[in-house]
Amino acid sequence: MIIISWVIYIPLQILFIPVTILGALLVAYKQILVSSRLGLSQTAIEVINGRWTMHVFGLRDDESTASLVSALPNTSLFGLWMCLFPLWVKYKISGKHAIYPRAPEPGSETMADLIIARTLYFDRIIERATGQAEQFVVMGAGYDMRAYGNLKQQKISFFELDQPSVQQHKLASLDSAGITSDHVKFVSVDFGNEDAFEKLVESGFDTSKKTVFLWEGVTLYLSEEEVRKTIQDIRNNAAVGSVLLADLYAERFLAFAQKGARKKTLDQTGEGLDFGLNLSTNYAEVLSDFVQSESMSVGETFFMGRNNDKGPFVVVVEMIID
Ligand SMILES: C[S@@+](CC[C@H](N)C(=O)[O-])C[C@H]1O[C@@H](n2cnc3c(N)ncnc32)[C@H](O)[C@@H]1O
Repeated sequence: MIIISWVIYIPLQILFIPVTILGALLVAYKQILVSSRLGLSQTAIEVINGRWTMHVFGLRDDESTASLVSALPNTSLFGLWMCLFPLWVKYKISGKHAIYPRAPEPGSETMADLIIARTLYFDRIIERATGQAEQFVVMGAGYDMRAYGNLKQQKISFFELDQPSVQQHKLASLDSAGITSDHVKFVSVDFGNEDAFEKLVESGFDTSKKTVFLWEGVTLYLSEEEVRKTIQDIRNNAAVGSVLLADLYAERFLAFAQKGARKKTLDQTGEGLDFGLNLSTNYAEVLSDFVQSESMSVGETFFMGRNNDKGPFVVVVEMIID
């Protein structure tokens, strides 16, 4: 079936080239220009588009993401289908994932696999860590839908932190999609100049309960000072045994992502890149030095792209408060 899927896919994709280009333009227009006009995060859209793709291609069951995508004005479901239809047909014939989206062997991920692989690695740690936690805090939540899926069945309190504009927009979009959000406490915060913990406590967060803090796809948009301040805030206030899950980017990734047109589009929504680590050599040591410098210890890690000569481009890391 794999050979047949290629035989059908290649001519279909060639025929679809103009449709794919139009679809990509439509998605980019909504993601960049509509987000910018509404004062929203385009990078959060990039993530939910990736997670919708995972759902549609059977890589991850995520009905709530699929529902939310259809209610967001700053992405285009039609555009996504225009881009991905030939690959979807190929997937349906072969039952295998190729080109995009795919879940490569750990260590051999490329930058194109970023959202897909990163989401799966975070899922794995979250599944284990939430088994021992009573609270789940999504920091820089964007359109993350983990609090609305399987986790919702667990006896756990949910909090979402984000900038006010993005959070209000998510709430309105959840409402239009008919998704209940009563079980989640929404706390608006700017990690750059506000005390996230003070606001969390005001909204009912219990500092004596073990907590999983998820900080996915956010550190790269902050300065080192902001990243360290937020980590210190958590370490100084959260219960022992709590964990902070984050992705920390290699300087080489930041350099790549800030080249040319990509930089211009990020500037459009004020999402310039900043904090990174030099993961080109001795990456495990660089990471543990960083985590230990904030008096936390390293738990599970996924160094994505570590088989590359230039070292990993990002690490998904569990930081433990002990
Ligand atoms: C790439 S998105 C990731 C969204 C989400 N974590 C996910 O994985 O779907 C980055 C998110 O970080 C938030 N963010 C960026 N800088 C922030 C800041 N200084 N304070 C609060 N949130 C911030 C953005 O609003 C956006 O929702």
